[in-house]
Amino acid sequence: MVSKIILIGFMGSGKTTIGKALAQKLQGYDFVDSDSEIEKNAGKSINDIFKDEGEKAFRDMESEFLNKLKASGDKIILSTGGGMPCHNDNYKLIKKIGLSVYLKTSPASVYERIKDDTSRPLLKTDDKLGRISKLLSEREEFYKKAADEIIITDEKTADEIADEIIRIL
Ligand code: S3P
Repeated sequence: MVSKIILIGFMGSGKTTIGKALAQKLQGYDFVDSDSEIEKNAGKSINDIFKDEGEKAFRDMESEFLNKLKASGDKIILSTGGGMPCHNDNYKLIKKIGLSVYLKTSPASVYERIKDDTSRPLLKTDDKLGRISKLLSEREEFYKKAADEIIITDEKTADEIADEIIRIL
């Protein structure tokens, strides 16, 4: 069995919820969320990292986190930030580290799930759906390059998707 299962996909694709469901079903894997780890290390929220240090600094923190993870032998289910595979050639690293699963979600589903959220700096705009559609179409190629497997998440529960990942394993 692989030592690392890496969930990638856009904001609101369910990486964290599905990762936690998967960790409950699989023995011996710890659940890790890259955004939470970065916030813990920086001592501030992602919103504040973007505000104080800029997006580039955040992307470098994501790459540093991935490099550390690559060196560890722990069995981990990783929920990545939605932009991680699309910066600093991280998609290459993601492919090397373990089994990567792209949770593919339509812009409409993403919008429904996160339309009232204020914790994501890249979606601070009046035209959230427009921003989601544009970013998603720019990022799709990176998600595909980073992915070993692709699962369409629209209209599926986290539990069903976790079971689908277990079947792949
Ligand atoms: C981002 C997604 C966020 C977080 C940051 C940037 C992105 O994570 O890393 O706000 O660029 O798509 P989630 O995908 O967990 O929302």
